[in-house]
Amino acid sequence: DVQSLLLFTVLFLLIADYLKTRRPSSFPPGPWALPFVGNIFTHITHNPSVYQRQTYGDVYSLRMGQTWMVVLNGFQMLKEALVTQGDSLADRPVLPLQMDMFHNLGLISSNGHLWKQQRRFALSTLKYFGVGRKSLEHAILDEFTYSGKPFNPHVIINNAVSNIICSLVFGHRFEYEDERFIKLIKRFDSALQIAASLWARLYNAFPLLMRCLPGPHQTVQQFWSEVKDMIRSEIEEHKKDWNPAEPRDYIDCYLTEIQMKKGDAESTFSEENLVMCTLDLFVAGSETTSTTLRWAFLYMAKYPEIQEKVQAEIDRVIGHSRQPSMMDRANLPYTDAVIHEIQRMGNIVPLSLHHSTNRDIQLGDYTIPKGVVIIPNLTSVLFDKREWETPYTFNPEHFLNEEGKFVKRAAFIPFSAGKRVCLGENLARMEIFLFFTSFMQRFTFSMPAGTKPVLDYCFGVTLAPAPYEICATLRQE
Ligand code: HEM
Repeated sequence: DVQSLLLFTVLFLLIADYLKTRRPSSFPPGPWALPFVGNIFTHITHNPSVYQRQTYGDVYSLRMGQTWMVVLNGFQMLKEALVTQGDSLADRPVLPLQMDMFHNLGLISSNGHLWKQQRRFALSTLKYFGVGRKSLEHAILDEFTYSGKPFNPHVIINNAVSNIICSLVFGHRFEYEDERFIKLIKRFDSALQIAASLWARLYNAFPLLMRCLPGPHQTVQQFWSEVKDMIRSEIEEHKKDWNPAEPRDYIDCYLTEIQMKKGDAESTFSEENLVMCTLDLFVAGSETTSTTLRWAFLYMAKYPEIQEKVQAEIDRVIGHSRQPSMMDRANLPYTDAVIHEIQRMGNIVPLSLHHSTNRDIQLGDYTIPKGVVIIPNLTSVLFDKREWETPYTFNPEHFLNEEGKFVKRAAFIPFSAGKRVCLGENLARMEIFLFFTSFMQRFTFSMPAGTKPVLDYCFGVTLAPAPYEICATLRQE
């Protein structure tokens, strides 16, 4: 009868699922996985104080649908995996969502020869155009604006930071009122919010099913194609007055590279890849820096005594009349330590980006086969009790020695480490330093009357502070 048939089918599916998704032998342990969906509803928690490491140790596994993932924890384990065995972990996994959104082109989700060629080119071009150059410093400082009243810094800072990427890639900035700019930022925001949701996990676990269903993925594809069209029109504009002898920006350099490598079978330079690399620079370079700055303002409002010390140091070293420059960093050890501590506590990319094994590897007591997704848990390093004196306290002293000099800490890895370490690290550090010191030089941050700073996390594309309003009061000259 129908009932027995149904029972038989369910039993059959359960047994088939069990056999297919059994934990491989000598694989790291992990929490019990539900049939079919596995640990899809388990939050690999981004709350720094609780991670499954306490139960399973430095290496544990999770199953997302049919895909096995291994979470790595603690400074020593991440160093061993990402640096010592870095070559074996340099790949990104080919997951359905990434495949559909980025086609495994560009910088973030590409692999092998294509990734190496594009990464090398992007690094050298970013260096050429600015990281460390006065012109980029001016571009960053020009974005420095202020609204006067209590304000939500999200939009202002997002605009400013996105405009830096625009300057580097497109060769120009946008006015904040420009409809095209507003649309660009809105589209990015929405697409990335969706890509970071539970829906994305379901999509990766059940791609065939999800592709047929209506849902946010249709919207993402729509937004993405609109953004790509905007980038394509920038490329067309560039072609009109492109002069290889005088490159103005990333697009100009890229067009020259396409031209020079024509006929080279090894070349991965194409207009389609240019569009994808540009997308990646926006994806990776806007929200990250902007979130860090939002944490910065909140921490300053929360710890006024630390804010005062930063301001006193800036007053002493830079004064009021000139703008900060990167040259000042070496003379501002306390400010530098505060920025590092903001990044450590802010922990904005808590699980880094997924890596994948490109051969069988041995980690601790476990063998991890080729093709397994690896999640480097940066939270577990930035809050590692074995590395930090007071891991859960905002304490700039983590980065200062007894004489008050700045000290580097190996476990400071908000940009991750190894072959895939953040490509924009230098740019991000420069933006954060210049914005932060400029704000501290001119304003004091405090919460609007009657409110207290709340250091709540809000998880989206990055681990961001919950939306807040803040007051920036002009300091006495
Ligand atoms: C990758 C953090 C700013 C471009 C990454 C990764 C992290 C990270 C954790 C993953 C590394 C890994 O897979 O192991 C941050 C933080 C930032 C920041 C905390 C700011 C505070 C930027 C900026 C840019 C950028 C400004 C753009 C110019 C990239 C790119 C990748 C990446 C292209 C992919 C690299 C690859 O796959 O080879 N970033 N990032 N990031 N970041 Fe950043």
